[in-house]
Amino acid sequence: MKQENMKIIEQKMLAPNIFEMTLEGLIVQEMLVPGQFLHCQPPTRSDLLLRRPISISSIDLKTSQCKLIYRAEGAGTKDMSQLSANETLDVLGPLGNGFPVEDISEGELVIVVGGGIGIPPLYEVARQARLRGAQVMAFLGFASKDVMFYLEEFQALGDVHVSTDDGSYGTNGHLGIILDEILPQIEPSAVYSCGPTPLLAKVDQYFEEHPRAYVSLEERMACGVGACAACVCQTKDKKTKKMRLKKVCDEGPVFATGVVNI
Ligand code: FES
Repeated sequence: MKQENMKIIEQKMLAPNIFEMTLEGLIVQEMLVPGQFLHCQPPTRSDLLLRRPISISSIDLKTSQCKLIYRAEGAGTKDMSQLSANETLDVLGPLGNGFPVEDISEGELVIVVGGGIGIPPLYEVARQARLRGAQVMAFLGFASKDVMFYLEEFQALGDVHVSTDDGSYGTNGHLGIILDEILPQIEPSAVYSCGPTPLLAKVDQYFEEHPRAYVSLEERMACGVGACAACVCQTKDKKTKKMRLKKVCDEGPVFATGVVNI
């Protein structure tokens, strides 16, 4: 983990209030697994004391660049969205435990299941799965067509199934409708998910006993490094069924299915 003023290479709006920021810095060389996050300091608002956790959506070790996709909804992320190329962003990271992808092998079916702003870290998972020769299937849920992003990028990696809450694109309704239709017909070797709690609960239910199925929790955070307990979630040991509190920033945000009380 490092703290660094990363150079902004590009900042663009992908959809209303959804931004993609490309950053360059030494810290990228430490990003060895997808699903980790950077804890970002709002650049001009000194009154905002807490950093904002933003998941890393793609990693390029060759150029030492990474991308963050985030929604500008609170004061901190709105402040970040005002930054332009050649400015810097103070970040701490990479933080958290990411998605295990090292055991993905050629020919396997890998599925990613994401909703809204939970989708970005799954892009790097899908990309790395493709690089390892796996077949990728993506299930993506958005509120509406207007706020969709990265559809073409996911389509370049494999099959994509989309739902929108208002029916403006793809299946009308929540992603669970598509999951109920397709999951009984397939046997994925690995499952990766990130998004709203009801979606994670559904994935957790379907794949509770699956040995390679993971959910990434989006929890409010303060320190981001395991020092304050602002981000605890309740977990149970799969064998003993004993309950335990775990810190999402430090022991997550990625957990195996069947472990977190979602
Ligand atoms: Fe402080 Fe997780 S945010 S322990």
